[in-house]
Amino acid sequence: MSGGKFITIEGVEGVGKSTNIALVESLIRNHGHEVLLTREPGGTATGERIRDILLDKEEQRMTAMTELLLMFAARAQHVEEIIKPALAKGFWVISDRFTDSSFAYQGGGRELGAGPVEQLENLVLSEFRPDLTLVLDVDVMTGLERATAETEADRFEMEHRDFFERVRAAFLARASLSRYRVIDAAGSIEMVQAEIGKVIEAFCRDS
Ligand code: TYD
Repeated sequence: MSGGKFITIEGVEGVGKSTNIALVESLIRNHGHEVLLTREPGGTATGERIRDILLDKEEQRMTAMTELLLMFAARAQHVEEIIKPALAKGFWVISDRFTDSSFAYQGGGRELGAGPVEQLENLVLSEFRPDLTLVLDVDVMTGLERATAETEADRFEMEHRDFFERVRAAFLARASLSRYRVIDAAGSIEMVQAEIGKVIEAFCRDS
């Protein structure tokens, strides 16, 4: 159906997603592809309003299932309004987070398990999946120190270490998916970017 490719970038807080997304974007543009950058939760006007609710520290009573359903409500809109039309026009779409974050944060962190996430994935996305997923991986304490240094904590960043340990474990538990590439993000920025470069070059070559 589509000319473009769908790439998602994932990881726990503080893994350096922003810097590395910029790198992925420039590598893909160098291959002559048009790129659309987007993010979750959000990416549409409706989705950004849902995001505000999800990240709001005042939302202390939100249940894990409500949180999961809101993630997928925003995603349903994002996929139909932005992602699929862009792919159909030949754009390569890069999303800062996608469904693997729901497996990690709601399935793992909030302990809902993979079952309900899989059910919603099938309901909302049907067969639609990313073509390539980069999971930036760093130990939780390093990530949290980096993340909290940057900005004021949102509702997720207020969670404690054991929550993020479950998030990280749930990301890594999905490593056998063929579209999944786990990148060791603990080393120097040069080392991390060299590894990402190899993955993206190989993907562009084979696409
Ligand atoms: P964001 O500010 O984008 O965090 P980061 O800079 O770490 O990417 O906020 C998004 C938050 O939403 C982040 O803590 C992860 C969380 N999230 C989920 O819990 N489930 C999801 O399905 C998605 C897409 C994000």
